[in-house]
Amino acid sequence: MTKADRGCDLDFSTLCAHGELAGGERRPFGALTAPIFQTASYAHPAVGQSTGYDYTRCVNPTRNELEKLLSALEGAGDTLACGNGMAAVTLVMDLFAPGDHIVCTHDIYGGSVRLFRLLEEQRGVRFSFVDSSEPALVEAAVEPDTKALFVETPANPTLKITDLREMAKIAKAHSLLLVVDNTFMTPYLQKPLDLGADIVVHSGTKFLGGHNDTLAGFVCSRDEKLGERLRFLYNTTGPALAPFDSFLILRGLKTLPLRLDRQQANARGLAAWLTRQPWVRKVYYPGLPAHPGAAVNAAQARGPGAMLSFEVRDGETARRLVENTRLISYAESLGGTETLITLPVLQTHADVPPEEREKMGLGMDFLRLSLGVEDPDDLIRDLDQAARG
Ligand SMILES: Cc1ncc(COP(=O)(O)O)c(C=O)c1O
Repeated sequence: MTKADRGCDLDFSTLCAHGELAGGERRPFGALTAPIFQTASYAHPAVGQSTGYDYTRCVNPTRNELEKLLSALEGAGDTLACGNGMAAVTLVMDLFAPGDHIVCTHDIYGGSVRLFRLLEEQRGVRFSFVDSSEPALVEAAVEPDTKALFVETPANPTLKITDLREMAKIAKAHSLLLVVDNTFMTPYLQKPLDLGADIVVHSGTKFLGGHNDTLAGFVCSRDEKLGERLRFLYNTTGPALAPFDSFLILRGLKTLPLRLDRQQANARGLAAWLTRQPWVRKVYYPGLPAHPGAAVNAAQARGPGAMLSFEVRDGETARRLVENTRLISYAESLGGTETLITLPVLQTHADVPPEEREKMGLGMDFLRLSLGVEDPDDLIRDLDQAARG
């Protein structure tokens, strides 16, 4: 059996390490890593002939290699690599027309909420924000004009879990597209397309890139027709990821399973430690048995991930933590090798209307941690000294 014959059976980690040529194909000159094709345009051999590449907004060999790898990892028919996660979410939203209605998880990334509010004002697409951890609420929100469900699980930043199989059932019953933002989990831990989703979106800036150094976004689709429509919109609106950034994400992906295993282990350790601290009121982590979504998450994902949130005694304690940690940076974003602490009310969810933030339980005492790959004892020591002030 040749290496090429074995291509489709390869383990996730092997695919990540070798890229989409893991089956045994060779890159130009036998290059082990994806060459960066830093070109805007391509010469044609003759009239009516093409190398398959004409203009980098539409297609580029480096980006192509990344898109094929993401498709292999997510089990997608096609993937479009975008300049960042919001460009990817915007591309998906370009599928919808004035009057269309979308039912959406209410505690999603604040930037997505900001975009959806803008689309309501300017394009007449309507959204209902519901707690999608309760499938009955999603079902009840479906209207005659509903075209899609947009779901994030675990949700950001409350870590609520939505049952993707239940969402797929509702979507199928009402002929809706099921769109899942899989940023928090990555395909290493959760594969929504296998559970019945039609589209997966990612902020590739996070775990996929993994080093807090590159912005990227992905739209992975299952169905061929849907993929063609998305590619048409992509060529038309131009959210393409640059060749160099495509290379950086490919490089990051090589170590995705290694990083995420370590990050997840750190999250488990920190979650357990936080539950024992007198200054912590509540820990939100789907890896804790007491988490209301733990069983659903275990049934649809390979692990609880590397994100956790926690509520502290009061706003003053939260301020002390973010200002006094030395190793852990007070910063937006997530998924990188360095642990970050975030105050969602002032950062990721600052533009979410206060009454909606209140519904989600987000106050000045609510903090989010994105676990990195550091030694867990160093992280615990840092939080402990910061809490003592
Ligand atoms: C879950 C989720 N989706 C989408 C985005 C947007 O991604 P980007 O910042 O790459 O535009 C983010 C950003 O934090 C996110 O957390």
